[in-house]
Amino acid sequence: MRASVLTPALELVIEQRPVPPVATNDVLVQVSSVGVCGSDVHYYRHGRIADFVVEQPMVLGHEAAGRIVAAGEAVDPRRIGERVSIEPQRPRLDSAQSLSGHYNLDPDIEFYATPPIDGAFAEYVSIPSVFAHRIPESMSDDAAALLEPLSVGIAAAQKAQLTVGDKVLIAGAGPIGLVLVQVAAAYGATEIVVSDLDAARLALAEQLGATASYDPRRGEQPEEPRFDVFFDASGAAPAVVAGIRALAPLGRAVLVGMGADDYALPISTIQNRELLVTGVFRYANTWPTAIGLVQSGAVNLDVLVSGRFGLDQVKEALDTAGSAEVLKNMVLPGLA
Ligand SMILES: NC(=O)c1ccc[n+]([C@@H]2O[C@H](COP(=O)([O-])OP(=O)(O)OC[C@H]3O[C@@H](n4cnc5c(N)ncnc54)[C@H](O)[C@@H]3O)[C@@H](O)[C@H]2O)c1
Ligand SMILES: [Zn+2]
Repeated sequence: MRASVLTPALELVIEQRPVPPVATNDVLVQVSSVGVCGSDVHYYRHGRIADFVVEQPMVLGHEAAGRIVAAGEAVDPRRIGERVSIEPQRPRLDSAQSLSGHYNLDPDIEFYATPPIDGAFAEYVSIPSVFAHRIPESMSDDAAALLEPLSVGIAAAQKAQLTVGDKVLIAGAGPIGLVLVQVAAAYGATEIVVSDLDAARLALAEQLGATASYDPRRGEQPEEPRFDVFFDASGAAPAVVAGIRALAPLGRAVLVGMGADDYALPISTIQNRELLVTGVFRYANTWPTAIGLVQSGAVNLDVLVSGRFGLDQVKEALDTAGSAEVLKNMVLPGLA
């Protein structure tokens, strides 16, 4: 098969590789569409994220969909031919975290495109069959791939115990902020305020359900602390501090964005208002909800797609990703 490989010198090359073997409980998926994520761009530009370093050639891409073309011995062979969205993780199912339902927190988990594990910018990938989620025929390949970032938003909403009537503040209107807007609306939030530095992204946030938006550089942030939930999807320390300060007593803050490892938080505000502040690490058990939200029309993922690239064009897809105009580039391994 063909795969786009990132070398330790941070060059992208097309390699001919053997199709991955199909273990007993796995399926082999012919990849149709893969979203480019900020983490892919980061590995390509800097060769590392925290302790994960590109030390050997690896394949990027973890937001993937495709069609099952082979099944391991323990998998129902009738699944061959199914269109699926891939949940790109491989936890040890007997870890304490997995047994308690939090398999995303298994310290020995393998995750696509996190060194040294290969991702999905390739013609075929293998995945445990339970993480190849069947999608309805009405769902596009791109939307099926983007159930992955949607899952991040759903996991954050669950952490925040988001509920009907909540007033929600979201910092950042990139792909994660924009799925959070839609998830918040689907959960019944009655006020959804979004901040970003880019006017076009703020306009899209309003189109997708935000009730108001602002650019923090214009000093327009909310004065009174009245929000029930704050999501950070920016990774920007000033946005996190302002977001926590904007919470009403008993408010919940979920820090999704990744920025500096350490920075100062307004502790007395957290104490005096009894705020809950937590992080979220990817997701567990979110795909059924994600599929339902897209199928019902509550969440539109196709609107996030900016461009489509073949395996030969992964460099272009990564070079143009992350600009204000580009929300989500997609890599289509089957594109001629
Ligand atoms: N915790 C997890 O499991 C998880 C999973 C996926 C992504 N993430 C993180 O979530 C974040 C969002 O992902 P994305 O793909 O949408 O990234 P993105 O870079 O496209 O979006 C971030 C947005 O934040 C905006 N921003 C920057 N500074 C700001 C400020 N001071 N106030 C308001 N907005 C500001 C940017 O203009 C940009 O639109 C990233 O940090 C990413 O690493 C975390
Ligand atoms: Zn991602």
